[in-house]
Amino acid sequence: MAHCRSGGGFGLRCLLSSLLLVSAFASTATAGFSVHHSPITGEVVKFFGERPSTDNSTVKSNSTTTARYLPPPSKDAWYVPPAGWESAKPGAVLRTRAHAYPTLNIRNAIDTFQVLYRTTDSRNNASWSVGTVFIPKSHANCVLNTTSPAYNASACAHGLVTYEVPSDSADPDAAPSYLLQMREPYGEMRDMLARGWFVLVPDYEGPGASFCAGVQAGHATLDATRAVLSLAGPQLGLRMDRIKVGLWGYSGGAFAAEFAAELAEFYAPELKIDASVIGGSSPNLTTVDERMNAKDTAGLVVTSILGITVQQPSAREFLLNQLHPTGPYNKTAFMNATTMTGADALDAYSGQNVFDYFVNGREDWTNHAMQDVINEDAVMGLHGVPRMPSFYYKAANDEMSPVNETAEIVESFCKQGANILFHRNTLGGHNDELWSGRLRALDYLSMMLDGVEVTGSNLTIPATGCATVDVTIPLDPLYLLPDWWWTEGPGAGLGLAGAG
Ligand SMILES: *[C@@H]1O[C@H](CO)[C@@H](O)[C@H](O)[C@H]1NC(C)=O
Ligand SMILES: *[C@@H]1O[C@H](CO)[C@@H](O)[C@H](O)[C@H]1NC(C)=O
Ligand SMILES: *[C@@H]1O[C@H](CO)[C@@H](O)[C@H](O)[C@H]1NC(C)=O
Ligand SMILES: *[C@@H]1O[C@H](CO)[C@@H](O)[C@H](O)[C@H]1NC(C)=O
Ligand SMILES: *[C@@H]1O[C@H](CO)[C@@H](O)[C@H](O)[C@H]1NC(C)=O
Ligand SMILES: *[C@@H]1O[C@H](CO)[C@@H](O)[C@H](O)[C@H]1NC(C)=O
Ligand SMILES: *[C@@H]1O[C@H](CO)[C@@H](O)[C@H](O)[C@H]1NC(C)=O
Ligand SMILES: *[C@@H]1O[C@H](CO)[C@@H](O)[C@H](O)[C@H]1NC(C)=O
Ligand SMILES: *[C@@H]1O[C@H](CO)[C@@H](O)[C@H](O)[C@H]1NC(C)=O
Ligand SMILES: *[C@@H]1O[C@H](CO)[C@@H](O)[C@H](O)[C@H]1NC(C)=O
Repeated sequence: MAHCRSGGGFGLRCLLSSLLLVSAFASTATAGFSVHHSPITGEVVKFFGERPSTDNSTVKSNSTTTARYLPPPSKDAWYVPPAGWESAKPGAVLRTRAHAYPTLNIRNAIDTFQVLYRTTDSRNNASWSVGTVFIPKSHANCVLNTTSPAYNASACAHGLVTYEVPSDSADPDAAPSYLLQMREPYGEMRDMLARGWFVLVPDYEGPGASFCAGVQAGHATLDATRAVLSLAGPQLGLRMDRIKVGLWGYSGGAFAAEFAAELAEFYAPELKIDASVIGGSSPNLTTVDERMNAKDTAGLVVTSILGITVQQPSAREFLLNQLHPTGPYNKTAFMNATTMTGADALDAYSGQNVFDYFVNGREDWTNHAMQDVINEDAVMGLHGVPRMPSFYYKAANDEMSPVNETAEIVESFCKQGANILFHRNTLGGHNDELWSGRLRALDYLSMMLDGVEVTGSNLTIPATGCATVDVTIPLDPLYLLPDWWWTEGPGAGLGLAGAG
């Protein structure tokens, strides 16, 4: 296995990898976008989008019961911004919530902190959103107060990664700030926390759940980062004298990360971002929707059409008028996705031809009313150039988005002075690359945030300009295990902190 040569403590990992490889797991590894089976129970495991358990109470020793989970955003008054919020500056902190989660199901985190902040939507109207900060275990002894006898700055983190969970939903009650109470999708947060970084997860879709609205997502990401950095020293103990900031997202998450990276130079010129990592990016929503339609990924076509039209009332009106009122593919069934997580939408619309919902079929999809909003808000490379060093990774055979669309954008950015390392993996498709690319993504962040030297992964960053490297990285099946496997499941206590 590719990762067996990596540093110490991986003996058991390699053994497990080999065992899993020969188990039934291997045969399910190529299943659809969200469909994975637990090798232990054979049950379908939903990787993203699980709502907090309805079993919401724990009995404490003194017989009082305490809620385990915060209520969903629509039922949580904390999400209502205070009066006058519109006039605050983008990135301004509107409200904070320390020790936010009553229950922490994410490994290597010791606490959470939430911030409600001012941001700007795709039409440049004032908006707000919520960011959730996960504090690493390694930060436990941090005392930044120089006059305290316990002063120990060496225990304080200096790295912050703004991490975009692929939320893929058009339901405001499926915001990451709420769903992450249950578990994280891929264990990437666990691995970043193991490396001692604060992990900030913005609700980048904003209050309307605008999935695939790129400008909205970019703004919300940059403003979450601004808001948290403004609290970092005094409230969170992050070392601002050595602060390094990274951005990372894959697939739906890359959508937000990429827009943030390209919008930063104009929208947040004062914000210093040290690195961005863009995995499995889908530069053009029209292309990716065409490829996802009529497959097990069709649900994301529905949520993306809903998400993108949140930002444009005229496009939403057009959509509502063009949906069949009755029949098997009708308006009610389409709009139903506004109450689904991304995973639920994948289940509900799997295999459907989404154009069947429209009265004029495909023609309504190609209508300028739909295409204009996509071209304005969901095509990368048109809003600025990433000015921070960037690592792009994508499967050469990505079936959802052609690798050349990303290559073209990288090339265009490079001509405009960007500094990009672009890995094209000759093995695997879109879902595989999420798992096989993460170790390189983490190592790139270690180089950029911590100055750690990494060798043997083709991660040599060009001093200036760009480099495109064709790599051959096989899938590590261990990574297909969801985070709960390591926390609540059979992997708990195996001592593989930050496995990978
Ligand atoms: C029960 O325990 C919780 C903490 O576990 C504490 O906050 C609460 O005050 C206790 N209630 C009573 C009635 O002792
Ligand atoms: C958990 O219980 C609290 C208090 O009863 C409630 O406000 C909240 O909505 C519940 N959360 C969920 C996820 O059911
Ligand atoms: C948002 O912006 C658009 C165009 O800039 C404007 O027409 C609209 O009235 C604004 N909406 C709100 C709620 O401010
Ligand atoms: C810093 O530590 C000193 C000594 O323990 C204490 O008096 C002071 O209140 C602390 N300052 C802050 C801001 O916590
Ligand atoms: C400071 O923190 C580091 C890292 O957590 C720890 O190894 C060290 O023992 C601490 N020093 C003191 C004096 O507490
Ligand atoms: C996005 O891709 C579609 C084809 O998939 C193309 O028609 C459209 O022009 C592209 N948009 C932009 C802004 O390049
Ligand atoms: C809309 O579609 C759903 C799912 O196919 C179906 O159950 C429902 O009866 C349809 N409603 C109408 C009014 O046709
Ligand atoms: C809406 O979705 C729920 C499950 O998510 C399903 O039970 C119901 O039949 C759907 N309604 C329509 C009209 O499709
Ligand atoms: C992608 O671009 C390369 C050149 O950069 C070209 O040789 C190849 O044919 C293109 N592939 C597709 C599918 O367009
Ligand atoms: C590193 O890059 C070189 C040149 O593209 C390639 O031949 C080699 O296979 C790559 N190594 C890995 C591990 O992918």
